[in-house]
Amino acid sequence: MLDDFFGSPRNRSRPKDHFSRIDESDDALFYSKERLVSHLDSLALETIVDLIEKLVVEDNPKILDLMASWDSHIPSRLQPCNITGLGMNETELRKNEALYDYVIHDLNRDCRLPFADGSFDVVLNTASIDCLVNPVAVFQEVGRILKPGGLFLVIFSNRMFPEKAVKVWRESSEEERILFVEKIFQETGSFDATGIFVSRGRPRPKDDKYAYLDTPSDPVYAVYAEKRGKSLSREPRPPVRSARELETNKELLETKKTQIHKTLACPHCDEKMKKWAVPDNPFEATWDNEFLHICFNDNCPYYVRGWDHVYKTTFRIASYRFMYNQEKGICSSIPVPSAKALRESIIH
Ligand SMILES: C[S@@+](CC[C@H](N)C(=O)[O-])C[C@H]1O[C@@H](n2cnc3c(N)ncnc32)[C@H](O)[C@@H]1O
Repeated sequence: MLDDFFGSPRNRSRPKDHFSRIDESDDALFYSKERLVSHLDSLALETIVDLIEKLVVEDNPKILDLMASWDSHIPSRLQPCNITGLGMNETELRKNEALYDYVIHDLNRDCRLPFADGSFDVVLNTASIDCLVNPVAVFQEVGRILKPGGLFLVIFSNRMFPEKAVKVWRESSEEERILFVEKIFQETGSFDATGIFVSRGRPRPKDDKYAYLDTPSDPVYAVYAEKRGKSLSREPRPPVRSARELETNKELLETKKTQIHKTLACPHCDEKMKKWAVPDNPFEATWDNEFLHICFNDNCPYYVRGWDHVYKTTFRIASYRFMYNQEKGICSSIPVPSAKALRESIIH
């Protein structure tokens, strides 16, 4: 199915419709207006900074912020460093304090990047991939300008300018978008295997302008890969918030579990679990008791890591919450497709 987006390997002409946009006018027109705003909420932005911090392992890397604006989300550990921005709006790029220099360049007019082969250690692309009408050609160019072993990190959420996003992006689910970006990497043939990062379902910051909507913080997804041919002496990049990354203190976790019948606190975050009524529905109920205890803390590390783990193991966007069956003294987990799921049966 995804092959259809890029044409067959023999015929690389892309079926136009998938990459059509509601606003087909010149991008220079749309981006002539500066937008000195944050495109995501503050927690999502912090998540992006942390992710860049974790994945950029080079000392003093030369970085390209591809499709840049006024904020490149660079962690303090990496500042100052040699960052070039490529974007469409000069005012935004001039205001970007992380940039050493910048270039105005429309990738939808000319996919070629105005840089020499192998000239960057890292290329970042944040909250922008939805606008590319020829992403494979742009990714091929990124492969050309990266040094062997260099990192291309593509970060996105579910926010976009719909009039400028390509049809395939607008019409895909969030899971499909991850697959789509992975597929673009594979199509170029220039990169090693992709890594994936998923962060969802955490509470929206209280001071966010959309806090009144009572929706979770903006999700953050990333697909990343290194350019093929890295020298063997390089350390591999650390896996990001790997689902298998267990609590630092396993012993403490086990001790807490032995106390759980008294504390009724989640051993992963110490928050009091909620008493939860098992639904009275023969098709849903898997438990033969009336009540269970579930941790509904949206910041619980067990639940937060769950999004990434479930995606990596099942390709579904879901997580799980810690659950305790008091009658049977059993600790387990219960799957949840969203932060709001199951809450209607909380008793107290
Ligand atoms: C939603 S903003 C994200 C900006 C920034 N990367 C960030 O994380 O805040 C999308 C950016 O993509 C850039 N962009 C959009 N279309 C482009 C194109 N055809 N060529 C180059 N850059 C483009 C714009 O300059 C704009 O700053």
